[in-house]
Amino acid sequence: MTVSKNLFGVMPDGKEVYEFTLENNNGMKVSVLTLGATLRSIIVPDKNGNEKDILLGFDDVTGYLERSSYQGAVVGPFANRIGNGKFEMDGVTYEVIKNEKDVTCLHAGGEFSFAVWNSIIADSDAVEFTYVSPDGNNGFPGNVTVSVVYRLGQNNDLHITYKAVSDKKTPISLTNHAYFNLNGYESDTVLNHVLKLECSAFTPVDAFSIPTGAIRSVEGTAFDFRAEKTIGVDIDKDEEQLQLTGGFDHNFVIDDADGTLRKCAYAFSAESGIALYAYTTLPGVQFYAGNFLEGEIGKGGLPMQKRSGFCLETQYYPDSPNKTQFPACFAEAGEEVKSETVFTFETVKD
Ligand code: BGC
Repeated sequence: MTVSKNLFGVMPDGKEVYEFTLENNNGMKVSVLTLGATLRSIIVPDKNGNEKDILLGFDDVTGYLERSSYQGAVVGPFANRIGNGKFEMDGVTYEVIKNEKDVTCLHAGGEFSFAVWNSIIADSDAVEFTYVSPDGNNGFPGNVTVSVVYRLGQNNDLHITYKAVSDKKTPISLTNHAYFNLNGYESDTVLNHVLKLECSAFTPVDAFSIPTGAIRSVEGTAFDFRAEKTIGVDIDKDEEQLQLTGGFDHNFVIDDADGTLRKCAYAFSAESGIALYAYTTLPGVQFYAGNFLEGEIGKGGLPMQKRSGFCLETQYYPDSPNKTQFPACFAEAGEEVKSETVFTFETVKD
């Protein structure tokens, strides 16, 4: 195992951005930036023994600052959406930033994703990033101290461990917004990838992508990924939920989620022979098929296409601060909340 640190670039205000690279003895390399505690590359061997970078991203700091797609970033303090930019907690209404269509709060206005985090090499196989979000920032209560650790194991397993503590009660849902293309970032779409989700239900949304509050069975819908299914098969089906979001962009309810690490997803591309398994302690996972990526200029100056990457954003359900029927996302003042997500990669030879 090795960890190295290099200067990646500088912010507009001159602040330096560093890139850490973790490398194991099985051909896997992961690099992470201090900007947004962003996963920048995940390199794994494909079935022919060639190195493949299976993560979408950008070449420089400017690319990461101008992204509208949150590529690889940590998102918080509350990932995904909050309806009408407000929620009530203990009888008090909190107004948060409405950075999407002036109506919804998306990814907490990007606070965690665009900040430069403090960093330390935590071990021979791990890097830790820390950040303090000031009370009231973008409307979220509490000074929130956050730590995100990326640890690479020898079994091509990448562990992301999140911890947060706030001095006031506040909603917390932390995720990583990585976009994967198991054929390599330079490949076209992920429509030929196979996906399996350990999810028997999902949370349908309204026209602003806010959950209606229902928990709907996937049975008989395009959302049924309980058995392996190619992503492209049903993505443009004439189902209301797909029309509302322009393709899969929904929170799936992880079966039997109980706060321990559980498998929630498996993805595979026969073209590269690369498989991805996702595990999490969280109750939900946003399967987003990269429906809005077209036109972003990514790594190597290559334009991204509609659906050139997919995300598995492990999370509390979107808008859960407003939905008492969803798993509770509030951290009490002084309570340290923790979660973990693991992405494991396997290379299958023909
Ligand atoms: C959302 C998408 C959004 C993307 C980039 C995902 O979590 O569900 O609707 O386009 O993030 O912001």
